[in-house]
Amino acid sequence: METLISPSLLSADFLNLKDEIEMINRSEADWLHLDVMDGVFVPNISFGFPVIDAVAKACTKPLDVHLMIVHPENYIRQVAATGAMIMNVHYEACTHLHRTVQEIHAAGMKAAVTLNPATPVCVLEDIINDVEMVLLMSVNPGFGGQKFIANTLNKVERLRALIDRSQSKALIEVDGGVQAETAPMLVRAGADVLVSGSYIFKAADPIATISSLKHTLQHG
Ligand code: DX5
Ligand code: ZN
Repeated sequence: METLISPSLLSADFLNLKDEIEMINRSEADWLHLDVMDGVFVPNISFGFPVIDAVAKACTKPLDVHLMIVHPENYIRQVAATGAMIMNVHYEACTHLHRTVQEIHAAGMKAAVTLNPATPVCVLEDIINDVEMVLLMSVNPGFGGQKFIANTLNKVERLRALIDRSQSKALIEVDGGVQAETAPMLVRAGADVLVSGSYIFKAADPIATISSLKHTLQHG
């Protein structure tokens, strides 16, 4: 399948958010990735529902909401009310992950489970057939512009094997340090969706950068 691109708004110019969203609308981006941080699950705070609601009104692309917060299960209805297409919750933040996934589905969204860099892929064995996507963090969550952790390539390969073995339809999304050099390696390893923040929004030509990531390398 073709590689999907989900630009991360975290690196956008927040003073010119309208222009940034219009750029995304005109681009070949498939989704828009929204990073919510609470200062507890991760050592940073980003933005919350007032911003997501405003972005949702202007953005024509499906919203890929990544919650880096404790107790994400308390916000399922509020995320659904923004019109989000998919809700990503961290494995490390969910005591009752199966229940949370069911509740995300009941709220009308696709469900994704996210793994931190040190969390092994094998913990997904008994949830892989219930989720539409797995998001592998290729940096420690909390900040844009960090260096790609190379072990993620092994994790993508292991996750691809688990998905094939389980006959799961889950997509593999990767988030953190995705740029011209790491994108083709990730696609070759089996990634379906690439999140990219600083590489896109700090580029001289973000639309061309999105296009170059999109056509980086197609896998079978
Ligand atoms: C990190 C966030 C990422 C971040 C990626 O905690 O989840 O989505 O914006 O930024 P880059 O692409 O700059 O590594
Ligand atoms: Zn993210």
